[in-house]
Amino acid sequence: MTQPWEIENFLETKNGRLHIDGVAAVELAREHGTPLFVYSEQRIRHNIERLKKVQGVIGCPLKLCYAAKAMSTMGILRAVKDSGCDIEVNSGGELWKALKAGFSGDQINFNGNSKEVWELELAIENGIYAIQVDSLYELSLIEETAKRLCKKANVSLRLVPEIESDTHSGLQTALLTSKFGMMPDEAFSAFREYKDSPHLNLCGIHLHVGSQNPDPIVYTQAFEALYSGLKRIYAETGKALRHINIGGGFPINYVRGGLDEIGIEEGQRQMFEADFEPVAAIDAAWHAIREELESDGSAHLIENLTLLLEPGRSIIADAGICLTTVRNSKQRPIPQSKIQNPKSKIEADHWLLTDAGFNILLSMETYKWYYHLISAERSDAPHDFPYKVAGPLCDGGDVYFDIEGGGRLPEYRQLPPDVEPGEVLALLNCGAYSLAQASQYNGRFLPPVALVRVNGEAEIIRRRETFEDLIASDF
Ligand SMILES: Cc1ncc(COP(=O)(O)O)c(C=O)c1O
Repeated sequence: MTQPWEIENFLETKNGRLHIDGVAAVELAREHGTPLFVYSEQRIRHNIERLKKVQGVIGCPLKLCYAAKAMSTMGILRAVKDSGCDIEVNSGGELWKALKAGFSGDQINFNGNSKEVWELELAIENGIYAIQVDSLYELSLIEETAKRLCKKANVSLRLVPEIESDTHSGLQTALLTSKFGMMPDEAFSAFREYKDSPHLNLCGIHLHVGSQNPDPIVYTQAFEALYSGLKRIYAETGKALRHINIGGGFPINYVRGGLDEIGIEEGQRQMFEADFEPVAAIDAAWHAIREELESDGSAHLIENLTLLLEPGRSIIADAGICLTTVRNSKQRPIPQSKIQNPKSKIEADHWLLTDAGFNILLSMETYKWYYHLISAERSDAPHDFPYKVAGPLCDGGDVYFDIEGGGRLPEYRQLPPDVEPGEVLALLNCGAYSLAQASQYNGRFLPPVALVRVNGEAEIIRRRETFEDLIASDF
């Protein structure tokens, strides 16, 4: 029977076991140990091609920049580059990695709200496509730095136009109460003030409406905000911009149809199962301004315009899984007060303790992020037995449910009966914001990463850390 999480030719059950691009997940786990992240090159390409379809619905060139913050292991950066995608970075470190991976300066876009001078120098020296400017202070710092280097920096101003998304509050980024960007009026005055600077090429405006946005309408709102910015800048300075950047934030469906009884609070669930085509969202957004553009004689404003997108999650999240082994198990009587169904025959909580904790899946603890859990060894068996599942860390909060009782994650995970220590499980859709946020907390080695290449061969693109790595930076 096909499982709801299956995706043809990518994530499938074969001979009762989970396969990723035809490779048996359990065999990878046995060979390389767990926790182990496994990525699919084919799925990364598929996701990039899906986003490139945006080109077909807009009237100007598209520049697709992968948001490296989602996952920036070198092998992944190279795979993204080889798929014909440019890159967005959020620090001097990511900028350096992008250059190392072979991206050229004009393929790089640099965000961040607390940039240091050395990071600006690196960006300016390498002539990157744009530094996204977060404040008037930062703009003056960039000008000063470029002047000292006798260079001209390409800059784009980040706006916060007050667009609210129904995503997780920690992922909202276009509100005036958020820490990002400039109010539109501040940005317009900056365009007036710096338009003739010999050291600044003010070439764009930018906004990012947040991550895992469940409603495509935010893209129409974002487009309208950028378009009115474009017109106002032209009216006030006579300058036609080179690009507008609408950020990232396209959602992936973490729940996937058919998983009806997962027991997550409604609002949270809607966010996790958000599912729309980026091309449809941008088509609607572009359509909203197209008529205005033609009727008010401002078509010339898009003549030399490029539209930038900065997707991270929608490229890498569903291309990666995390394999984990059950290392321990125990049973505990369920307190009478907690028994919700009096007819339930289950009198004890069955606990499974895995080797994947919030040190490698931080969002599970901070944002109560949902990653669907299955048995990699018995992926076609009925997943109908409830378990309490937890990671290996010393915190009581290192659990796969909502320890605060807020209903933001299911209390129990459904797996086949009789799961015992040694069984390999798989957390799905965890390619984004997982290893990228990982730490060695509790002296745990950062896990290895396997990439299943388009030719079906699995390659280790990052090794498991060793004892020495735990102390490599210490004196
Ligand atoms: C400025 C900016 N652009 C792009 C992204 C990528 O967002 P997502 O991974 O949701 O596509 C982020 C994420 O935080 C961001 O801050």
